[in-house]
Amino acid sequence: MKVLIINGSPRKEGNSALLIKEAIRVFEEAGVEVIRYDVGTKEIRGCIACGGCLKKGECVLGGDVPRLAKELASADGMLIASPVYYASPNGSLISLLDRLFMSANCDLRMKVGAAFAVARRAGTVASFDVLNKYFTINQMPVVSGRYWNNGFGRAPGEIREDEEGLQNARFVARNMVFLMRSVALGKEKYGLPESETVIKTPFVR
Ligand SMILES: Cc1cc2nc3c(=O)[nH]c(=O)nc-3n(C[C@H](O)[C@H](O)[C@H](O)COP(=O)(O)O)c2cc1C
Repeated sequence: MKVLIINGSPRKEGNSALLIKEAIRVFEEAGVEVIRYDVGTKEIRGCIACGGCLKKGECVLGGDVPRLAKELASADGMLIASPVYYASPNGSLISLLDRLFMSANCDLRMKVGAAFAVARRAGTVASFDVLNKYFTINQMPVVSGRYWNNGFGRAPGEIREDEEGLQNARFVARNMVFLMRSVALGKEKYGLPESETVIKTPFVR
């Protein structure tokens, strides 16, 4: 069992990192392998809509995205944590996720997903919604917790005082473990849901 964790924050020991740490403890106790990627201060270009990935099978802009796509292909679940910037996930993370999900040349069905947003005060629910949409467009079940997966703190470390936020991270991680195991059993017993050729109907023809 393997989970891919992406931390959008540029702050190594920031509040998103601490929330992730709480979840990692649960994964490790359960024997789940963790592949962690920190966006950090890397310069990550956004998707340029070149369509190159559709031909090559991976993002032609390269960087870490093709490697992460391979990790995602072999993962059972994905956890994303983001700082809130102007009521949205931070820009570098969005650039990475747009390219990762656009170019992921694998079957994402039933890989479970969970997202966290961390803020000083507001914008977590809007950011949570943005992040969950990468999952729900890809037949990835969203794993819930006991709130809308947020955490609060401004300066690095302040989230330690947000006991409820940290506890929720543990709830979510345990629910992820349960669902990843359940999906594995379900796949064995029933296989993945039947698929169809995808119909795309642009509004302007
Ligand atoms: C550019 C920028 C925009 C921010 N926008 C918001 C915001 O809209 N709402 C909020 O509550 N906090 C906002 N913050 C504060 C961060 O969300 C907060 O410091 C958070 O703990 C950062 O998480 P990190 O430590 O994981 O990087 C902003 C911070 C920066 C640098």
